[in-house]
Amino acid sequence: MATDFTEETAADAVTESFGPRTDPRLREVLVSLVRHLHAFARDVELTVPEWEQAIGFLTRTGQKCDDERQEFILLSDVLGLSMLVETISNRKFGVATESTVLGPFHVVESPARPLGDSIDLVGTGTPCVVTGRVLSVDRTPLPGATLDVWQASDQGFYDVQQPAGQPRGNGRGLFTADAEGRFWFRTVVPSYYPIPADGPVGELLRATGRHAFRPAHIHFIVTAPGHRELTTHIFVAGSEYIESDTVFAVKQSLVVDFTEVDDPARAKQWNVGQLPFRHADVDIILQPAG
Ligand code: BEZ
Ligand code: FE
Repeated sequence: MATDFTEETAADAVTESFGPRTDPRLREVLVSLVRHLHAFARDVELTVPEWEQAIGFLTRTGQKCDDERQEFILLSDVLGLSMLVETISNRKFGVATESTVLGPFHVVESPARPLGDSIDLVGTGTPCVVTGRVLSVDRTPLPGATLDVWQASDQGFYDVQQPAGQPRGNGRGLFTADAEGRFWFRTVVPSYYPIPADGPVGELLRATGRHAFRPAHIHFIVTAPGHRELTTHIFVAGSEYIESDTVFAVKQSLVVDFTEVDDPARAKQWNVGQLPFRHADVDIILQPAG
């Protein structure tokens, strides 16, 4: 039976309209969404002009999306939602390495490279060697683990952002760990950089007095048989913005020292042509699947 729509009955009116054959999980999610959305509108006493402004903002957010740009994910990122969902989905499991957001600059096919190769195809910036092991939670090495690695240049741009200025594949590599789960590669120390701020998300950041920067980091997707895939970063300790990442993706356990090395023997060992260079060493610990 129809009842008057009131502030008090509004949420029930909507949730009770869902039919009996609605998928149970969809019902659970939508019922909660409607309840929170209505509670939010009542809480702030949302006005019609504000509602129109929000619809306009979301419309422009959608219009900014194309095959290369996903403004809705960026919005989710700056609102902390991406990191919240990531953290809920990958609750810390003992000693396993923590996960963090994927971001928009991953490409499906990173160039496969041998261990020790350089992912830096440009030659500017501070040389850097990244070494480590991929281990299971009981510290058993995971030989043959794959590490898909990508990072911004020393100027703070990914290759896909500078098609005329960087060779495709700069800052990217797909490595396979050796028989002891070890990996090592050469690169340059990445720079902090701003997320794309020329769209509605940038407007939101400016309207709320926020900067658009992410601290310097290197992305990893690590896989090994029988283990959960891990999407994570390592962050350069001491980087600008490490305390105020605009997408809230920093976890203290992922902040790594990029220590200065001035030893010619180690430069020779890793085929680094310049002293001093930086060295970051990190164990990546995967959770068993299931
Ligand atoms: C990134 O680290 O590549 C990134 C993550 C979230 C939003 C924008 C960029
Ligand atoms: Fe990034």
